[in-house]
Amino acid sequence: KMNQFVEALMKKMTLDEKIGQLNLVSVGFDVTGPVVSKDVDANIRKGNVGAVLNTYTPVAARKLQELAVKESRLKIPLILGYDVIHGHRTIFPIPLGMAASWDLTAMERSARIASEEAAADGINWVYSPMVDIARDPRWGRIAEGAGEDPYLGSQIARAMVRGYQGPDNDMSKPTNVMACLKHFALYGAAEAGRDYNTTDMSLVRMYNEYLPPYKAAIEAGVGSVMTSFNDINGVPATGNKWLMTDLLRTQWGFNGFVATDYTAINEMTAHGMGNDAQVSALALNAGTDQDMVGEIFLKNLAQNLKDGTVKQEQIDLACRRVLEAKYKLGLFQDPYRGVTEKRAKATMMKKEFIADARNISRKSLVLLKNDKNTLPLKKTGTIALIGPLANRQRDMIGSWSGAGDWKQAVSLEQGIKNVAGGVKVVYAQGANITDDQQMIERLNAHGGDLNIDKRTPEAMIQEAVQAAQSADVIVAAVGESQGMTGEAASRADISIPAPQMELLKALKKTGKPLVLVLMNGRPMALSWENQNADAILETWFSGTQGGNAIADVLFGDYNPSGKITATFPQVVGQVPIFYNHKNTGRPFNGTDKLDKYKSRYLDVSNEPLYPFGYGLSYTTFSYSKPELSKTSIKQNEPLEVRVTVRNTGNYDGEETAQLYIRDMVGSITRPVKELKGFQKVALKKGESKTLTFRLSPDDLKFYNTDLKFVSEPGDFQVFVGGNSRDVQEAAFKLE
Ligand code: IFM
Repeated sequence: KMNQFVEALMKKMTLDEKIGQLNLVSVGFDVTGPVVSKDVDANIRKGNVGAVLNTYTPVAARKLQELAVKESRLKIPLILGYDVIHGHRTIFPIPLGMAASWDLTAMERSARIASEEAAADGINWVYSPMVDIARDPRWGRIAEGAGEDPYLGSQIARAMVRGYQGPDNDMSKPTNVMACLKHFALYGAAEAGRDYNTTDMSLVRMYNEYLPPYKAAIEAGVGSVMTSFNDINGVPATGNKWLMTDLLRTQWGFNGFVATDYTAINEMTAHGMGNDAQVSALALNAGTDQDMVGEIFLKNLAQNLKDGTVKQEQIDLACRRVLEAKYKLGLFQDPYRGVTEKRAKATMMKKEFIADARNISRKSLVLLKNDKNTLPLKKTGTIALIGPLANRQRDMIGSWSGAGDWKQAVSLEQGIKNVAGGVKVVYAQGANITDDQQMIERLNAHGGDLNIDKRTPEAMIQEAVQAAQSADVIVAAVGESQGMTGEAASRADISIPAPQMELLKALKKTGKPLVLVLMNGRPMALSWENQNADAILETWFSGTQGGNAIADVLFGDYNPSGKITATFPQVVGQVPIFYNHKNTGRPFNGTDKLDKYKSRYLDVSNEPLYPFGYGLSYTTFSYSKPELSKTSIKQNEPLEVRVTVRNTGNYDGEETAQLYIRDMVGSITRPVKELKGFQKVALKKGESKTLTFRLSPDDLKFYNTDLKFVSEPGDFQVFVGGNSRDVQEAAFKLE
């Protein structure tokens, strides 16, 4: 049916109208590049526009669609896209935070809520999930993904696609939206963590470590894909035929449409790939279908066709893919998809959505340290609430929270008042977020709203110390402003900025118990903090309900269960640091301190500060040794791994048990550990449960140098534990 409909429509289309479908324009505010689309109304009327980004609300969406379906010759509806990344109006924690929940149902639910709100606001296409594996916390966009692991990243990618497009993947339902997998590909491997930078990588690393989450989202039926800005092994992704056609379509069978990132075709000129006409042909021939904002296709494709650098079939193919997406979205049946102001009002930030947001936020918080049970706090006495992030609402919702209204976000100060009304709170800002003038200017020029206090640092610290002296405990909310991570927010120094460090050092000297509430969008270098704070709670940017969720954890109404999904280094010089590294020919086991000729540093150990999968609870858990169903299996045989987890502490709690394997010998070198399973389990105080993990034959496979997905006979180790470091092990043989 869809084929017939689209074929019939295409027969009526002129070349210019077909090229028009390949043009994605921006109307509005949220510009992340140098170009803003011009003459949008006139271009829609002429049939020069296939899709629009950055516009929402029922009124605006209707207005735009009306231009297309009433005033253009063929009345083809537009696709309306937007960056709905971690919620639309109800904002959830940043994706790196949500990943720390290890709760796929919760993440799917966040995407479901985002989908319902976005769809009610006239949006039918969201630029999420972002599944780029990132091992370098200098890269600001690590905040937007699931962290460093391909297995977990793949599970999350699937859950997010299901959440947006619906469990039956029927995008024509007016409450579902089309997801857009991004950024294809390897954007997270930008050299030196600098945004938009080059990626150069072996194929085996790509296939085994970076591509799995993209593939998982394709298998889950994601409707569209966005190209990445970076070049890959010398060819920019947007003009990379191997990537966009051979891999994505031929090998993986993707049949949706590919849009570029913002002006990515134009940027191929700066990459050194040629002039406008050349990069236009390069992008189309590579398999890119739609041009975001750059208008390169609009201005060049007709001439490209005349010059013979592109073929009519390739233009037709791209046009067909865009029209098919519109068909799948039901836009030809109802271009407005039932959008009304009444529906929008009834949907946005509903009570149940807010309740879910609070719950999901709580699950994302990670307790990094808790000496002498400093946390949970009592709901009595006096708290000195200190720090530049203690009463900020703007930062709470993080970057890429476009339609989120930060004024509706609950600050930490408000959250404490809501949850522990009996506590006396003495507040002092204590420091500015940063004193780096260049950074302040740059962030404020792009809506950073840093709100710098003009008092001297000494005066601010003195006020904070006084507040601390009058209190039983200090809660210091420190870290980054929301603009210090995200796009174009790479940092070479990933520690807490200097003025806040000075503040913390002064607070430490008061001798009062020091609880750090970290707000930030990346793993940070926290060695001093780890040595000196009594407790540390990583809260990321935790969304609309952040303040309430953090207070729930601080006062013990919720027992923290989050675990980090990206390794925290001791110092930035260890970066990139990740748990699933190779062994090398000279591994350093940490025992012989004088051993020089080993793969190690002279000035710091190889250990991270906090390993992948790490996170504490107010209770403790013990693990039995893993028991295997067999010690030797055939290549197509599954293996069961049983382990008993016991709650050995004083609170009910939740634990994410993680299963890793190591392939001891291979035709290519294999990682020292690879995550292959996890289960989140709730255990009452004193309770124990036996968990069964099933390792499938595919779990033992990897891509070899011929890029064949194979398992190889030999010895394997299995590890189970509460993080990637503290594990119990067993062994088996693959025959
Ligand atoms: O979706 C984003 C992308 O992640 C970065 N560049 C701009 C796009 C659209 O806003």
